[in-house]
Amino acid sequence: MNPYHRSVERVLAIETSCDDTSVAIVGRNGFVEQLLSADQDLVHAPFGGVVPEIASRNHSLQLLPLVELALERASYTWSDIGGIAVTARPGLVGSLLVGVTTAKALAMAADIPLIGVNHLEGHILAPFLSDKDYKPPENFEKGPWIALAVSGGHSHLYLVNEVGSYTVLGRTKDDAAGEAFDKFAKMLGLGFPGGAFVDRLAKGGNKKAFSFPRPLIHEDNLNFSFSGLKASALRTLATLNQPHSEQTKADLCASYQEAIVECLWAKLEKAALRYKVKKLLITGGVSANSRLRGFSYEKASQSGFEILSPPLRYCTDNAAMVGYAGILRLNKGEESDLALKPLAHSLNEDFKVI
Ligand code: KG4
Ligand code: ZN
Repeated sequence: MNPYHRSVERVLAIETSCDDTSVAIVGRNGFVEQLLSADQDLVHAPFGGVVPEIASRNHSLQLLPLVELALERASYTWSDIGGIAVTARPGLVGSLLVGVTTAKALAMAADIPLIGVNHLEGHILAPFLSDKDYKPPENFEKGPWIALAVSGGHSHLYLVNEVGSYTVLGRTKDDAAGEAFDKFAKMLGLGFPGGAFVDRLAKGGNKKAFSFPRPLIHEDNLNFSFSGLKASALRTLATLNQPHSEQTKADLCASYQEAIVECLWAKLEKAALRYKVKKLLITGGVSANSRLRGFSYEKASQSGFEILSPPLRYCTDNAAMVGYAGILRLNKGEESDLALKPLAHSLNEDFKVI
């Protein structure tokens, strides 16, 4: 088949870049027909972080049963699937390897094209997924957009002129926003992954109770830095009596969360003003944060911006976003061969850098 005339109706997508094993069936317009995920939170919780060897072992146990279940739930056979999309980078190489190897084997056995996807492109496109309960607003269909992708491993700002064209405008100099949440939750003994715990506790706290720094917030660049904030939290905790009362924990969470949210919003707004873009995307695991969503929507409506964040099920790692990025690329004529390699980092050609 001439790949330039390829028209794939739906793909089966695989995501195993970190500790979530996820499989989806996604249509050409980003319609999610099936999404099945198995997280490993309870397995890694005792270690306070993801243990790479355990993550990849669990992926190899969980992945094929999820693939079979997704097909069964959709009542599809392989002849209904037009391609396989898989996260190939960036991520934990041992985890990616399970997904990539399985995807190659499935593509070969079913004789359908394979496409390796950059996980971050998946996050950027997640707000445009749709399903039987969600459809993105029509006014967001055309770019340009500024995308803030904030997760456990990344905090990046992108200029997205059109789907497939991404320019990195700024990034974190040290910890990612999700990592800052997770490390703080660990200091307070809240559980893993920590972002959702901090979010929940912060709802009952006073965000002005503790004063935490907002690193780089006034600097004329589009970068982030969260390691100083984390160090400051550690110093603050050392001055407080132990054990912390529930109210103190809530106040700490609200104050710490506010510092992260203000830093993220400040640079997102700066990017939007600098590049004269009105449509903003906030995506990735941290975009599930209720204060980040609330604060940004409020600020955006005051300043004439429009914001789109994915529904919560598409914020954290999921194969649906990988499927959408993959099917768009397949239908543009792209395809990966069996030399596709899992990589810890993005490739230079994935993103332009300013
Ligand atoms: O996108 P994701 O699932 O994985 C990566 O690509 O890293 O993001 C996971 C990150 C974790 O750091 C987790 O703590 C954070 O997203 N997260 C949150 C919330 N839900 C997940 N952070 C803040 N508030 C939340 N509600
Ligand atoms: Zn992610």
